[in-house]
Amino acid sequence: MFRIRTATAKDAQILARLHAEIFPEDAWTVEWFASRLRQERMHFLIAEDGDTPVGISAVSTVADEAEILTIGLLSTDRRKGYGDQLLRSIFKLPVNHFFLEVAADNQAAIEMYKSAGFYETGRRRAYYKAGTDAIIMMLSQPSP
Ligand SMILES: CC(C)(COP(=O)(O)OP(=O)(O)OC[C@H]1O[C@@H](n2cnc3c(N)ncnc32)[C@H](O)[C@@H]1OP(=O)(O)O)[C@@H](O)C(=O)NCCC(=O)NCCS
Repeated sequence: MFRIRTATAKDAQILARLHAEIFPEDAWTVEWFASRLRQERMHFLIAEDGDTPVGISAVSTVADEAEILTIGLLSTDRRKGYGDQLLRSIFKLPVNHFFLEVAADNQAAIEMYKSAGFYETGRRRAYYKAGTDAIIMMLSQPSP
């Protein structure tokens, strides 16, 4: 059964392992997750299929805004609606405005964000290592 749970201080290793599998060129360390899990402004979710962790999200909040730092599913668990469900869980945070940056060539993520109502507000030229642009997207008061 699929479920989404809030990560706890004990989940740094699980989060780091999943992040490294999903983003092999940009793996965040166990130490990074352990320190951020202690911060009140940081919010981590873990998606599980049965007992198996299959996806994560990381969000930081300040005042009335949330920045989605990452969201991802293992490659074996994509296109099952899980990414969309993670996004909807993020929308339960008590803020009104959601922001994110996404690589301009990441069609899957851009389509997912657009279908949730995000729209482009700007671009950072050649923001990523490969020279790819970052698209800045925003959504206010999403419907759950
Ligand atoms: C982006 C990502 C999180 C989407 O998760 P997912 O669980 O596969 O997405 P869902 O199955 O919930 O799909 C939701 C919607 O996103 C869009 N979408 C998802 N994958 C897509 C793809 N490969 N091509 C086009 N649209 C896609 C569709 O609009 C889809 O709705 P639909 O199934 O009704 O057509 C997933 O592809 C992923 O983990 N990618 C690698 C990590 C990453 O790039 N994260 C984003 C960083 S900004």
